Amino acid sequence: MNLNDPLSGCIDILEGYNQNRKIKDNELKLLYNLIAMRLVISVKSAWNLLYKWSEIDSEFAYYSFRKACSLDAHPGKKKFDKWAKKNRFFIGDLLPKINKTKFYNLDLSIGSNWLGTRNEIEDLDFFQFKIEKLQKTIPEYIISGGYLEPRSIYSSNTYEKVGNEGEENRTIHLGLDFWVPVGTKVSSIYDGEIVAAVNDKGNKEYGGLVIIKHCVEDFEFFTLYGHNSVDSVLKNKIGSKVKRGEIIAEVANYPENGNWAPHLHFQIMLSMLNFKVDYPGVCYSKQEDVWKDICPDPNILFKKKGLSSITNQTNTQIIDYRKKHIGKSLKLHYNKPIRIVRGEGVYLIDHKGNKYLDTVNNVAHVGHENEEVVSVGKSQMSVLNTNSRYLHENINHLTKEILSTLPNELNVVHYVNSGSEANELAIRMMKAHTGNNDIIVSQHGYHGNTNICVDISSYKFDGKGGSGAPENTHVIPIPNNFNGKYNGDTKEDKYVNEVRKQIKKIKLKKRGLGGFIIEPIISCGGQVELPKGFLKKAYKEVRKNGGVCISDEVQVGCGRMGKTFWGFQEHNVIPDIITVGKPIGNGHPVGVVVCTKEIAESFANGMEFFNTFGGNPVSCSIALEVLKTVKKKNLQKNARVVGDYFKKELKKLAKENRIIADVRGQGLFLGIEFLDYDNKPQSEEAQYIINRLKDFGILSSVDGPFNNVIKIKPPLIFSKSNCDLFLKYFKKILREDFVAKY
Ligand SMILES: Cc1ncc(COP(=O)(O)O)c(C=O)c1O
Repeated sequence: MNLNDPLSGCIDILEGYNQNRKIKDNELKLLYNLIAMRLVISVKSAWNLLYKWSEIDSEFAYYSFRKACSLDAHPGKKKFDKWAKKNRFFIGDLLPKINKTKFYNLDLSIGSNWLGTRNEIEDLDFFQFKIEKLQKTIPEYIISGGYLEPRSIYSSNTYEKVGNEGEENRTIHLGLDFWVPVGTKVSSIYDGEIVAAVNDKGNKEYGGLVIIKHCVEDFEFFTLYGHNSVDSVLKNKIGSKVKRGEIIAEVANYPENGNWAPHLHFQIMLSMLNFKVDYPGVCYSKQEDVWKDICPDPNILFKKKGLSSITNQTNTQIIDYRKKHIGKSLKLHYNKPIRIVRGEGVYLIDHKGNKYLDTVNNVAHVGHENEEVVSVGKSQMSVLNTNSRYLHENINHLTKEILSTLPNELNVVHYVNSGSEANELAIRMMKAHTGNNDIIVSQHGYHGNTNICVDISSYKFDGKGGSGAPENTHVIPIPNNFNGKYNGDTKEDKYVNEVRKQIKKIKLKKRGLGGFIIEPIISCGGQVELPKGFLKKAYKEVRKNGGVCISDEVQVGCGRMGKTFWGFQEHNVIPDIITVGKPIGNGHPVGVVVCTKEIAESFANGMEFFNTFGGNPVSCSIALEVLKTVKKKNLQKNARVVGDYFKKELKKLAKENRIIADVRGQGLFLGIEFLDYDNKPQSEEAQYIINRLKDFGILSSVDGPFNNVIKIKPPLIFSKSNCDLFLKYFKKILREDFVAKY
């Protein structure tokens, strides 16, 4: 009753029914009207649905029902295929003046590298320039392609509707495109009758469109010719007969043709459905199976190699290969993994053009494939990339920018390529400075994947496959402000006591303290906020005993916390070393270690520190642009404002839904913890929620020792309306049986 797209909703039921009890074609033919009649009977509550139902094309519904029952969507498809296969057509039947017979399949799919960024996709002059250049390099080919190709151009906001499972875009191209010179003559592929010849104006100009009806043996089909000059098209009279090869149009130039350089869009339809002139040239990916039976591949006529779309591997094939040849311990997200081929701002887009709102990727700090960041990286890469032993200004520019965000005490920078490498180096520095190897860490903390990093990560050595803390690692209970080992007003002191206990233990073994590493909000531990005052007191204790304090800023740094640029600033402390990773490269591998002058001096003991890639001009230009973008676009403030709003709204939901035990975090680094009445972690429910959110086009993830905390850490350009979208579907899922029992 309350679905946005009732046709799609009833297809699920029909498929299930048909699996158990076959429905015949003549029954399917009646189904659309029968459903409407059933609604009329209970009309009081069904008005809304009846209205939506009447908007659906009854013939399209019938075809969809057939497909759901494993029949060809169009009953005449087999007849058409047979006829098309036995008749031979040439490209000259469509484009009589083109003396070429070879085809170059242009990849305009969602992940096409040829297309580039969103701005490049939408820059029609640039597109035309690229097509002309390509044509010059392959003059003997007709540039063509696109049947059933999911296209990036259609995944911008213009094509959105809200379906039963979130936002949808019409991305699947139903015709074949031929890029040919302006004015190229176009002829009717077969004898027929003109049924449409119009200036095709939808929400924008598409040029002149002709549709011709062809009667063959005992069936009919239609051909559509789009993006022609309006004048050439209007010369055709509706109802007039045309012969195979008769000129009906000329390819138009930009802007008359609407988009994407002069080209002809050619499409076959087995039915006009109830369209008169505005026949769709693209469809929603969910309806692709139905549409491809109504609009068959035009290459069935030409039978030419290179004209059919590039066939990509299926998800199953990709998974099978991964299983065989990629390390097993590398996991995939979601019960049904998704295949992401493009990133844009707060969205990730799959190979069919489905857009997913990314609420979890704190690496794409200033937005996925941020155009300025991509552009500086590309420019620098095309001039020079080499190691940092040569003089180059980029490394200094970046250093200056980083230091401008930090207290004066932290003033020497080393560059590496990841968060793990940064922590690895920080531990080497700690050892060099103190002469001690013993380190205090938090339970459930994670600091990276190298030997030393695993040795200081309780998340790993206390987790699956781990074998407990190594001799030099000393774990304190996670200083959890919400539901840790200690509660009450003085809990921070109790956790500081745990630090003292570990120091005592080290001393009893006649060794000295090297240091203490912790995140300002413990991410893998479940977005855990530290009790107020804990870090200040703990740092004091560590320093009193000769240790250094390391703040792992890999997750929370660079403005994410909103109120402060770095996580440690939230706690009013100044660490001796900070480590930075993920966000600073916006997806490009960059890691940074900043320390005090004294530590840097101790580290420079004669052994050279060389890192092949760390601090190279490309990485530095990228990281610099990321930091500048945070400033230019006020993203730290955005993290605060949007994060506060998000947290407030989530807290409201927590009041209404018992399963949400806690909403916590700072800025755009939040956590939602799920517990039952007895405070037992609800990990299956959390897992269920993130999988359902994915169904609605929203990416999130769970973490924490019990996998019962949803982490929210989106790109910093996340807006209030992005929060609202999350909240809309989150609320809906909270009402679903699996979680609504609470
Ligand atoms: C807090 C923290 N530190 C360090 C790392 C390691 O960073 P990388 O994966 O870039 O080596 C991570 C990665 O998830 C992290 O969350």
